[in-house]
Amino acid sequence: MRILFAIVMMVTLVEISAFSLIRTEKTSLKNMSISGDSLELDRLKYMNEVMASIKGKEKWPADSVFKNIKVIKGKGNISAEHFLWMMNWGWSAELGVSCDHCHIIGRWESDELYTKDIARGMWNMRVKINSEILPAITGKNYDTNPMVTCITCHRGKPIPTEQ
Ligand code: HEC
Ligand code: HEC
Repeated sequence: MRILFAIVMMVTLVEISAFSLIRTEKTSLKNMSISGDSLELDRLKYMNEVMASIKGKEKWPADSVFKNIKVIKGKGNISAEHFLWMMNWGWSAELGVSCDHCHIIGRWESDELYTKDIARGMWNMRVKINSEILPAITGKNYDTNPMVTCITCHRGKPIPTEQ
């Protein structure tokens, strides 16, 4: 029994240190690269602020928690926490921006910035490409095949360019 316990402990320790190694490597890589995502901490801060403000409702449907949801609803509805992850690691990271590219910080429901409404249109375009246009061309199912997302075109830039 003791030997078994010792082995389990050793494996766990090795795993823990491997995990922290990977983490440090990731962090230092991030700090080193100029074009890497230097905005991640900024976005994480805002995402966590909103997350704290909806405490207890994280698993509720996004359109029942937030005030001004026009496209991420109906068939495409997701939980409030999933919605915020998508805001952060989906849209913002894929465009290489922070939340203030589309929002006035703290007034999340406001549509004052034109970029926010464009993002809604881009979302509808992405859904249409994956659910109608691509299947009509290839006959494949884009729930299982590689699909078009914001990064397919944007590649970490607010406006896609040829380079
Ligand atoms: C590329 C533009 C874009 C970026 C960047 C972006 N958002 Fe959004 N955000 C939107 C759009 C569009 C909606 C509305 C979605 C809809 O109508 O279904 C929205 C809605 C929201 C809402 C719901 C507000 C309400 O009550 O209606 C919150 C909260 C939010 N975003 C937080 C964030 C946070 C936090 C970040 C950064 C981590 C972020 N957003 C980055 C475009 C963006
Ligand atoms: C099929 C390619 C494609 C996809 C997919 C795509 N975009 Fe775009 N996006 C563009 C192009 C091209 C422009 C530039 C349009 C222009 O300037 O007239 C643009 C512009 C934008 C702008 C306006 C930027 C500005 O400063 O004027 C926003 C915001 C945006 N996209 C958000 C998104 C989001 C969010 C997604 C994913 C839901 C997305 N896009 C998916 C091609 C795409």
